[in-house]
Amino acid sequence: MHDIRAEVEQRLARAFDSVSSGSDPVVRPSGRADLQANGAIAVARQLGRAPVEVARAVVDALEVSDLCERVEVSGNGFINLTYSSEFLADRLGAMAADDRLGVERVDQPEVVVVDYSAPNVAKEMHVGHLRTTVIGDALARMLSFLGHDVRRQNHVGDWGTPFGMLIEHLIDLGEEETAAELSAGDLTRFYQAARASFDSDPGFADRSRRRVVLLQSGDPETLRLWRVLVAQSVRYFNLVYRRLGVLLTDDDIVGESFFNDMLDEVVEELDAKGLLVVHDGARCVFPPGFTNRNGDPLPLIVQKSDGGYGYASTDLAAIRYRVRTLGATRLLYVVGAPQAQHLEMCFAVAAMAGWLPPGVQAVHVSFGSVLGADHRMLASRSGGGVKLIDLLDEAVERAARAIEQRRADAGEGDGADDHATAAMVGVGAVKYADLSTDRARDYVFDWDRMLAFEGNTGPYLQYAHARIRSIFRRAGMEVPAPSPPVLADPRERALGLALLGFPRALHEAVAAYSPHKLCAYLFDLASAFTDFYEGCRVLVEDRRQRESRLVLCDLTARVLRQGLGLLGIEAPERM
Ligand code: ARG
Repeated sequence: MHDIRAEVEQRLARAFDSVSSGSDPVVRPSGRADLQANGAIAVARQLGRAPVEVARAVVDALEVSDLCERVEVSGNGFINLTYSSEFLADRLGAMAADDRLGVERVDQPEVVVVDYSAPNVAKEMHVGHLRTTVIGDALARMLSFLGHDVRRQNHVGDWGTPFGMLIEHLIDLGEEETAAELSAGDLTRFYQAARASFDSDPGFADRSRRRVVLLQSGDPETLRLWRVLVAQSVRYFNLVYRRLGVLLTDDDIVGESFFNDMLDEVVEELDAKGLLVVHDGARCVFPPGFTNRNGDPLPLIVQKSDGGYGYASTDLAAIRYRVRTLGATRLLYVVGAPQAQHLEMCFAVAAMAGWLPPGVQAVHVSFGSVLGADHRMLASRSGGGVKLIDLLDEAVERAARAIEQRRADAGEGDGADDHATAAMVGVGAVKYADLSTDRARDYVFDWDRMLAFEGNTGPYLQYAHARIRSIFRRAGMEVPAPSPPVLADPRERALGLALLGFPRALHEAVAAYSPHKLCAYLFDLASAFTDFYEGCRVLVEDRRQRESRLVLCDLTARVLRQGLGLLGIEAPERM
């Protein structure tokens, strides 16, 4: 057990239970002590006794002398607990000796599917893909670190009617020219040109329709051309992924086309289970509880009137495959808020069909939009807008200038022009700005704020890390062997307490699928470090005290690096 608060909570629960069984005390951090439990109030009401009396009885039954140096009951029946410094120091020593920094693996690892990124072939990756890619990647990293078996699934849009016109445009343009355009990232130009021909040239439109039929019937030449489109687009996606520093590789691409062969069976199974209803010529399922504005039941269309399958049937096939074949017990869909109803309906239908049995959880990890300074969408997935790759280029350029400026302000003179560091800081700033906002909310994309060295930003955390590394470098100090630090100064103690909060913060972030909770923790930790560093000299004469403080410094740097790493953000050695 490495979560110190959980230890106190368990002891408290036992003590409460002995006073009144089944009571469930809420414990929270407090300004008056370290922790506060207020459960006595509810118990007192139940038993018709005074809260103070109940609290005293709980404290009499409470055995925490090894964890806490002070336990006090306040006038209104709150129990205030203060950890003993010895206990904290002891745990910090153990944390310093642990590669995992106190984070235990879960007892029961699950196969967890994370469905994220999912750009569309022959369409540009916009800033709209940023959130799904960055949030999904952070969740994949955190879940694996906790010991789960994570299956990244990049559900790319690589199938469907648009491919008729895209293949015809490819033929008109020539394969070489197409390859050049797509791999250079001119996906929008390619798509729009195809669209324009389709809209203006009836002959082209005809050819496109016939091409869709050829594609669906598996015509070898058509499939070959289709593969060219997919391969070139994927090449470009990979380029963006490498720049963005996400884990996604070719092995994670399980696009819509992958499920094509399963769609007949999916529909047959729905039919056999008596779930299909023909509605306006289309085969549909009506999951209970979904209605439109007028209160009419809403259909999930699984097969269109022309016999074609759509987006929903593919998602149903994907659920079935992920549970049956991959053995997943948790499916996370990191997809924008506008698709909430689609996903909820797919989950409901899958449950009706028995593809989401009890014990398997499907979760829509929804997120808001990225807005411009005018508070309108910075870019939409469909409309034009900011290309993700251009955004990253600009981030790196701006980061290089920000780093230079910081060095000039600090009188540190010219650092070497260091492209690698600028890339880590620039890309890190963009990712952190995204991850540190509650994903449910929209946020305004603001270069100056995300690149600031102050506040809850990527550069601030990276700089806190780099500054600690420079303490060791400048003083030529070795990282001390792990040992319990001395927590004499209140700022040492506050930093120690912040460090020990890491496992809990990570678990809370994962439980809510909310990376911003980990960000908030890291920011608090960096702030506690800043207070400590400004108030306590590290390189003091006294060897015991110096080493103790160096242990705190090193541990802080390691938690910052690990925490940023779990967010998919690098921590440069110097800045
Ligand atoms: N390709 C889709 C889009 O760009 C996103 C797919 C999300 N994942 C899913 N399983 N539906 O809108």
